[in-house]
Amino acid sequence: MKIISDAFELKAYLKTITKRVGFVPTMGALHDGHLSLIKAAKKECKFVVVSIFVNPTQFLAGEDLAKYPSRDEADKKICSLAGVDLLFLPQVKDIYGSDEVSLMAPNVRGYVLEGATRPGHFNGVLTVVNKLFNIVSPDYAYFGKKDAQQLNLITLMVKQLFMSVKIVPVDTVRESDGLALSSRNIYLSVQERKEALKISRALYEASRMVNRKELAVDDIKEAMSKILEPLEIGYVEVLNRDFEIVQELEIGNTLILVEALVGTTRLLDNIWL
Ligand code: PAF
Repeated sequence: MKIISDAFELKAYLKTITKRVGFVPTMGALHDGHLSLIKAAKKECKFVVVSIFVNPTQFLAGEDLAKYPSRDEADKKICSLAGVDLLFLPQVKDIYGSDEVSLMAPNVRGYVLEGATRPGHFNGVLTVVNKLFNIVSPDYAYFGKKDAQQLNLITLMVKQLFMSVKIVPVDTVRESDGLALSSRNIYLSVQERKEALKISRALYEASRMVNRKELAVDDIKEAMSKILEPLEIGYVEVLNRDFEIVQELEIGNTLILVEALVGTTRLLDNIWL
């Protein structure tokens, strides 16, 4: 596996690659969720690039960027064992200058849900993903469905900026008890981890209700909120795949999203129905 930190060196190297390039952007602290993105990329692409970059512009003031888990050596090993061809490991100075051109998330979709509690977060995500796409020029890029709003906004960016990369959504990976894998799970105590299971249980209940054809959104949200108690709920929302709030859900075009605070850790999860 080749490792490059300099964006221009990486661009020059990738010019020599004529195979289909698959790209998995990450912020490191790799877990099985990231591995499933890499596996999906390897299935479809002859050359796989992973980036590890903890992007400062997607952290808001007061969010602890310095505490974001960093495991460079372990991450390198994971990528190498997973058959990654090229690891892009830039420093902040390789990506950002002092007076920056940046992208703005759309006024509506960028400022609901995660965007409401973290205003400006998606400006940082879109800016860095745009930069990474320009550096790597991938044919396909892989993103987890767990970060559904991020995936939706990146898909929108690609469409609205006429980019030619194909965005591939990848299913959420769960522990055997249902907990969705996330880099934030390491912050949970043993007791909090048990509490966190209420999130996937609430989503499973929603999916059972839908299977029973109980499609009224208010009833689904009420049942989920009961299961989530006493967690502090950030949001429980039922949307269509265009990220619009709906009152009656439509199978094949629905996302149910949850954000809840477990201890001091905000966890996200969702199901696509
Ligand atoms: O999902 C992430 O890990 C990050 O938001 C991403 C897409 C790598 C951009 O920094």
